[in-house]
Amino acid sequence: MPDLHIRIKRQEPGKDSEPRYDEFTVPFEGAFTVLEALFYIQEHLDGSLSFRYCCRASICGSCACYINGAYRLACQTNVNHLKPGVVTVEPLPHVPVIKDLVVNMDDFFAKYEYIKPWLILKSQEPEKEILQSPKDRKKLDMPVDCILCGCCYSSCPSVWGEENYLGPAALLKAHRFEVDSRDEARKDRLPLFDNERGVYRCHTIMNCVEACPKELNPTEGIQWLKRAVVRRRIWGRLK
Ligand code: SF4
Ligand code: F3S
Repeated sequence: MPDLHIRIKRQEPGKDSEPRYDEFTVPFEGAFTVLEALFYIQEHLDGSLSFRYCCRASICGSCACYINGAYRLACQTNVNHLKPGVVTVEPLPHVPVIKDLVVNMDDFFAKYEYIKPWLILKSQEPEKEILQSPKDRKKLDMPVDCILCGCCYSSCPSVWGEENYLGPAALLKAHRFEVDSRDEARKDRLPLFDNERGVYRCHTIMNCVEACPKELNPTEGIQWLKRAVVRRRIWGRLK
């Protein structure tokens, strides 16, 4: 197996007027991931290379980037599974760059926080765990796997065009709590996405589904929220 040639899009806004691509050669060491190649470069070739990572197990979402023109997690991407030739690694598109592959996720997390992404109980604090039927738990199977990597957000043209749009990840999280049989904030949370920042901005483009490295379906969650909004507006029903 030949050595890996890797091009990395780099920029430090405020210092570099334009981004550039630096090319590195990483010796082949059996099966390795793009994240391991980035470690090699940082440790042996250029210590100034910046990137994020944390869990190395596809569950923290920190190393999300754009590899060979596709949204991927660097820790999940085996270089042997990419097409032969130079591998190109870029930061998440349409998200402001802080340095190299590190992007500014402040807006993403502000929108996430806005939809109240936690279980809200209005009745008395329970003294023991609240049981959930297998049928009700099943409704959480898809949305609960979101790792907040931001790939869907970066890929959504409605986010590019309207900076206030909450975007697929925040709305999928709203869906996750709206379908949770234990949550008691439906009346309060629903107006948060029944407005000009919310579900009306989703034009069912579905880039988010294509981009998600966890193979989730934010569009499905958003469609569910749209139906909830219509039910409330027409019949005043929350379910
Ligand atoms: Fe990432 Fe998928 Fe969650 Fe979007 S829905 S933040 S792409 S895991
Ligand atoms: Fe964007 Fe996904 Fe809707 S790409 S427009 S959130 S279906």
